[in-house]
Amino acid sequence: MDSAKALEFHELTKHSYFSVRTGFHRLDWTNKPHPFKTYLDTPKIPLPKDIPKPEKPVFASFTPPTGSKMALDMKTLASILFFTGGITRAVKYFDGVHYFRAAPATGALYPIELYVVAGDVEGLSPGVYHFDPKTFSLNVLRRGDYRSFLARYSHPSVSESSAAVVFTSIPWRNAWKYRERSYRHWFWDSGVMVANMFACCNAFGLKSFFAAGFVDEKVNDLVGVDGVKEAAIIVASIGSSEKTPETVETVEPINPATLPLSRRETRYPAVEEIHKASSLKSVDELAEWRRAAENPLAETATQVSVEGLPLWEVILRRGSTRKFSRTSIGLDAFMSLCRTASVNVPTDFGSYTAYFIIVNAVENTAPGAYRYSGGQLVPLKKGEFRRISGFLCLEQELGEDGSAVFFIMTPLMEILGKMGNRGYRVAQLDGGIKAGLLYLASYGLGIGATGLTFYDDDVTQFFSLGSSGMENVIVVAVGNPAYRARPGGMFLGIDE
Ligand SMILES: Cc1cc2nc3c(=O)[nH]c(=O)nc-3n(C[C@H](O)[C@H](O)[C@H](O)COP(=O)(O)O)c2cc1C
Repeated sequence: MDSAKALEFHELTKHSYFSVRTGFHRLDWTNKPHPFKTYLDTPKIPLPKDIPKPEKPVFASFTPPTGSKMALDMKTLASILFFTGGITRAVKYFDGVHYFRAAPATGALYPIELYVVAGDVEGLSPGVYHFDPKTFSLNVLRRGDYRSFLARYSHPSVSESSAAVVFTSIPWRNAWKYRERSYRHWFWDSGVMVANMFACCNAFGLKSFFAAGFVDEKVNDLVGVDGVKEAAIIVASIGSSEKTPETVETVEPINPATLPLSRRETRYPAVEEIHKASSLKSVDELAEWRRAAENPLAETATQVSVEGLPLWEVILRRGSTRKFSRTSIGLDAFMSLCRTASVNVPTDFGSYTAYFIIVNAVENTAPGAYRYSGGQLVPLKKGEFRRISGFLCLEQELGEDGSAVFFIMTPLMEILGKMGNRGYRVAQLDGGIKAGLLYLASYGLGIGATGLTFYDDDVTQFFSLGSSGMENVIVVAVGNPAYRARPGGMFLGIDE
């Protein structure tokens, strides 16, 4: 399969000491894109506010229910949407109130939107809905059961689910700050949300499945987006349904009016090109891709030696640590974080990531570089690497001060060789999911965490991965915060 565009894009968007010094980009704050999608004349259904909380301890929430046939009701659906993409904090800044959400997002720009394709949800008529986290309501886009259409053009699990959720990305929201590299962020920012959604479904005893393979144009048509200014990137299936959906072969075009995000938008051709090149154009292409992508996950149950806090509390407490104290974290806690490497999130691509770690301050562990693989922590080189870990993370203090810095790596060449350009999305998404699990695990243990960006080639060089085809996808630094962070809350509808 062709992967030339993906390779070209990957090289083009690498950060280096020189690229960040030569590629100056001034942010136009007066043109910052609005973080919420506002429909102008679409009917709205308020979501219930008395929603159940995912009470299960966080580590138990990493294991999917076995043989679950549980259906979904509207309150549980509302809870899953809230704990995946809802508002958990409101913070006043010089330019107004900023709303932070259940999952982290690069630059707090929130490019990801969620659409529910409901078929068999108790209390909610079948239909296609947009989730609006601000008003905590659903915008009605289509009425009727579209699961069979979506299943045909994405994954068969959709037709047996109670509802599917389509994740989309609005490129301009993130490209405003990060330009071409923002394409990677589409998958980082959705991947961390997938981690939350997966854990919530497990906590409620519901099945979930996440597909990166689908016929792009058809899924975009279903949710009424054009594939350029907003594009579908993941299809999730939630819950089980015995009601076989009627066959729907085609969908009427819809183009609901929405408010512009900002006065003007800059287009980034490199982003549009890689997205187009990684699109699947027909059911035949999809079937071929799925066969190539198939990668059955090893049947390794995550060994849980700790339980952690209840999932809902973890998600409300979560907030990226802004300053680490440089104190040590415990070895048990650290090993529990390492074990998130083998959490099996059900996807149509399996998982490829490996953890390379710089240990700065972990009890009873020599500072140095390690690889966590096959359940073992393997020392690579001993030494005090705080300055280096800070440098590798784009010279950010957070990378220097963290107790352990997780470099989430992927065999990019192997993935692209199997899956072509579409594999680029998978590589980034797989990393995003692992980053999301690391965030949840850290806060579940009372430790802080933050995602970090990085100097691509310096990272692979530091870990001596030169010709291995391994590439870094995301960094997560963990450690004890240097301040007392207040937990967030549940903002179920904001009036302004
Ligand atoms: C994949 C990823 C990469 C990130 N990279 C950085 C970074 O390089 N530097 C930084 O200070 N924060 C980084 N963040 C943290 C975001 O800025 C943060 O998630 C956002 O401001 C929202 O705040 P919250 O996580 O506290 O809810 C990253 C987050 C993610 C998910």
